[in-house]
Amino acid sequence: MKGLILSGGAGTRLRPITHTRAKQLVPIANKPILFYGIEAMAEAGIREIGIIVGDTRDEIIAAVGDGSQFGVKVTYIPQDAPLGLAHCVLIARDFLKDDDFVMYLGDNMLEQNLTQFVSGFQSKRTSSNPPSAQILLCEVEDASHFGVAVVNKDGHVTDLEEKPKKPRSNLALVGVYLFDKSIHVAVSSIKPSARGELEITDAIQWLVDNKHVVHHEVLEGWWIDTGKKDPLLECNRLVLDVIESDNNGTVDDASRVEGRVRIMDGAKIENSRVRGPVVIGRNAVIVNSYIGPYTSVGDDCTIADTDIEHSVVLSRSSISGAGRLVDSLIGYDVAVKRTEALPKAHRLMLGDDSIVEIG
Ligand code: G1P
Repeated sequence: MKGLILSGGAGTRLRPITHTRAKQLVPIANKPILFYGIEAMAEAGIREIGIIVGDTRDEIIAAVGDGSQFGVKVTYIPQDAPLGLAHCVLIARDFLKDDDFVMYLGDNMLEQNLTQFVSGFQSKRTSSNPPSAQILLCEVEDASHFGVAVVNKDGHVTDLEEKPKKPRSNLALVGVYLFDKSIHVAVSSIKPSARGELEITDAIQWLVDNKHVVHHEVLEGWWIDTGKKDPLLECNRLVLDVIESDNNGTVDDASRVEGRVRIMDGAKIENSRVRGPVVIGRNAVIVNSYIGPYTSVGDDCTIADTDIEHSVVLSRSSISGAGRLVDSLIGYDVAVKRTEALPKAHRLMLGDDSIVEIG
């Protein structure tokens, strides 16, 4: 069994904070989203992983390397343009050979691990009517933003449709799929969709239409497609809910740390109060501040004279004298500071798609 992780993809995902950076390296609880997928694969016993890389390939390669930090061997497969998820399978043919594989969209996060999903498929593959594919579905309120599957009363997947205007079920396709080699015929038989992509959803429909067995499982626990709107704070909250306390930094006597707080190497907390669940990144400095529940402060950040809660601050940003911040997502290398300069006013330099709410 091999793994295929897609880090490329269409350019609109998570735009506000990642114009130039790999979206899948945006951290959740200070760990890149992509790492959760690689770790889940390693935990499920997968040792060979192909990663599809696009225009952010250098950054992905710098972060993941040869995979040895995860106990896996990584092969990079370049995709010149985001031509669709099924196109990724097409260009990964030499890597995948005729092996069964798990395909994982690098910006999906799941509570459930992959072990059972993978071993379930493997054991069914030796049965008399083995499945060619297994999909993971999740009940959602509005399925029109996803691939949607229709399951008949006998429990068979009959129809799949990519982002239908009027979804015929509330079962969205989660970005984790299991395939055998039949998928290679499917991806070379389908035509690009209206959005100009070779859709994996259409390839799975091709399998169904050509009498292949497609199994499905309905997900337990949460699933977030972090590439979609506003998911980052929610995902951060879900992951912080299960972190464990750990202090590798320094906390001075004037500070109080309450609840589950993970303080990374070299971080310093001075005259501040930190109320978990919170993660404070490497070499971050917190001075005269309050860091409230569900906050992740990235590496090398400085927070001074500020109250911040339910927020994500990415690496190397500094916030000083900012009053009280809540529900905020602050990108990389951002500076937020109080100034006495006249005229007394807010001065903003905001990237595309930024949102500022001034209370
Ligand atoms: C892709 C798939 C879609 C699936 C979703 C899950 O959507 O095409 O079927 O439901 O991932 O994250 P896209 O990332 O192209 O919007």
